[in-house]
Amino acid sequence: MKNKEMIFVCNNCGNEFSKWMGQCSSCGEWNTLKEVKSLGKAIKGSTHRSTRTFEKLEVKNLAVLRQDFGSVKENGGVFSTGISEFDRVLGKGIVQGSAVLFAGEPGIGKSTLLTQLIGKIGGLYVAGEESAEQIGLRVKRLGLNANNFDILGTNSIDEIEEFLDRTKNVYKIAVVDSIQVMSSENATGVIGSVGQIKESTFRLIQIAKKKGMAIFIVGHVTKDGDIAGPKLLEHMVDTVLYFEGEKNGDLRILRTTKNRFGPTDEVGVFKMEEKGLREIKSEEINLIENGENKIGSAITVTMEGTRPMMLEIQALVVESFAPMPKRIFSGIDYNRGQLMIAIAQKSLGMPLYKYDVFLSVTGGIKIEETAADLAVLAAMWSSYKSTPNPSFDKEGRKSLPVWVGEVSLLGEVKKTRNWEKRQKEAETMGRRVVEMKNVKEIKNL
Ligand code: TYD
Ligand code: MG
Repeated sequence: MKNKEMIFVCNNCGNEFSKWMGQCSSCGEWNTLKEVKSLGKAIKGSTHRSTRTFEKLEVKNLAVLRQDFGSVKENGGVFSTGISEFDRVLGKGIVQGSAVLFAGEPGIGKSTLLTQLIGKIGGLYVAGEESAEQIGLRVKRLGLNANNFDILGTNSIDEIEEFLDRTKNVYKIAVVDSIQVMSSENATGVIGSVGQIKESTFRLIQIAKKKGMAIFIVGHVTKDGDIAGPKLLEHMVDTVLYFEGEKNGDLRILRTTKNRFGPTDEVGVFKMEEKGLREIKSEEINLIENGENKIGSAITVTMEGTRPMMLEIQALVVESFAPMPKRIFSGIDYNRGQLMIAIAQKSLGMPLYKYDVFLSVTGGIKIEETAADLAVLAAMWSSYKSTPNPSFDKEGRKSLPVWVGEVSLLGEVKKTRNWEKRQKEAETMGRRVVEMKNVKEIKNL
């Protein structure tokens, strides 16, 4: 094979071809093939690392492995972020040598939280999107100690690696902001292409393991929920964190969807304020206003990890003038919402085929639990009837309702886990969880 061959690389999926095509035969995208110079044998296959030194490879016996880790202590090399909500989400804290994907929509506060992290424990901030001056301004605004920050302004993974080799192991953590603007000479494709993102992530993971430092990789998520340049990074890293919330609102939830070192159902709650993100303790989470029930509103208690959270679900059910009635949901899973509409039609007799249905969750929180099913139905019922759901009698006293329960296809209501915890949370607002066996009971509460 000739050395300086020209090849064609798809910007979308990173696949390589010997011929140009209008449509990538691998991912089906149009006009994504770009002509690039082949790097000869380095380019063969999908893992083309030209700098590999095979002579250095050796096997390690597990019994003697411990001493290799040097500074790893009995706690297994876990250290605190200095931010307790952050620690809780990670399990116990940051694991030495781990690669963490920190994902979220642009503008949600990823750089802010990770700046605060470095402000607390010190580390390297690889700035690919902002200048050192911009980060300096943020550090000042957040009132953090500038001494804790080493800023490396680069878009090159090769430079990061070279820098870290030169400085030896002085950093416990590094933040790479963001993976979408990183690239390496080892990979083909332009910055932001799947090939580059994959290669950059792979290299960062290798660096993390080799140096025993934790690397937080910032990844922007596009509107449709993928980590831009697909979700393909999730299986590569040790931990995946999602930072979410409504951009107009100030509440932010840090969630883990994958964690090799801890639970995946814990969340951390923050509030975006003038001076950055502030941790919110359980007692402070109060997303509902007290008082009478409103038309189209139903309160539920979801469990986010081990903490109960009271949320309001709002429904707007109005006669439709469109040939296909609208179903617009925010914070509620589309398929689950559709199912609730079908159940409402069947079990509650609501003629929703000729009504538009809008559903939303206050605070920009995404509900992932089926325990909110009953609340969705109660909110729709209230909006449809144009009357608030009434207080109900229990043990001789009237209580405002809280709706908790998974609803089956037949309209049966199933009691959910952590019932008592949810009940206790409801009581803090002077409410009670409604107990019912079938959704039909909503009608005669
Ligand atoms: P940023 O961390 O830059 O978002 P990301 O890195 O996820 O794209 O946060 C951007 C928003 O946060 C911006 O609109 C301003 C706001 N913000 C505050 O409200 N308070 C602050 O102290 C800071 C630093 C940012
Ligand atoms: Mg940012």
